[in-house]
Amino acid sequence: MNAKDRLIFPLDVPDADQACKYVRLLSNQVGVFKVGLELFVSEGPSIVDAIANLTEAEIFLDLKFHDIPATVQRAIRSASCLQKASFLTVHCDPVLLEAVVTEVDDNIKILAVTVLTSLDSKALMSLGIREDLASEPIHLVLQRAAIAKQAGCAGIVCSGREAAAVKKKFGANLVVVTPGIRPDWGDVEKDDQARVVTPYQAVKNGADYIVVGRPIRAADDPVEAATRVVEEIERGLKER
Ligand code: C5P
Repeated sequence: MNAKDRLIFPLDVPDADQACKYVRLLSNQVGVFKVGLELFVSEGPSIVDAIANLTEAEIFLDLKFHDIPATVQRAIRSASCLQKASFLTVHCDPVLLEAVVTEVDDNIKILAVTVLTSLDSKALMSLGIREDLASEPIHLVLQRAAIAKQAGCAGIVCSGREAAAVKKKFGANLVVVTPGIRPDWGDVEKDDQARVVTPYQAVKNGADYIVVGRPIRAADDPVEAATRVVEEIERGLKER
């Protein structure tokens, strides 16, 4: 994989016009375009075809499914757009993950969401997680990564801070995707990400893919910002 192939750009925009604008603009810098809830809810499955018609890049359907297994299985059966997607996210629940893995074709990698990068220790405790587990999110991330592996998932989503420990324990057999990326050269206003690292650090720590949204979208020149991120990925790869 080239450095570029490891950069995931989230199309966190409200409509197809804006999404297609970013796909055209960034296809030379980005390996994977991510369709999240905002765009999927507004445009529906046809957005996946629209993107696939514009780019050779892969498509990541980040719907973060979280419901009873039968409901999620039925949703997957009715989602023909999954044929064009390479990644799909599901929240970490052993029975749910197993049900999803048996439902999808080989073309799609199921990624289990471990602990959202917007959650810090305080937030985890307020959700009822025991203090000894919540104090260091890595404990929960490793526990949930083991659940994902056992269920047959291709990979997990966690923060770049946890990537090294996950790679040490699970090696190349579990793909690690890390959002919560903040280059030290870009400012994101009103940030909701809590467990952040730079692109270089995430890749050096072992992340296979990094999700970089606002630092690219909010830049005066998104193409230049994406190019800088790819350079950092290259640097991180050399040093691991
Ligand atoms: O770089 P930025 O913060 O803008 O990236 C936001 C994107 O990262 C959103 O699309 C969000 O869904 C995604 N994300 C994720 N998993 C997390 C946290 C954020 O996929 N744990």
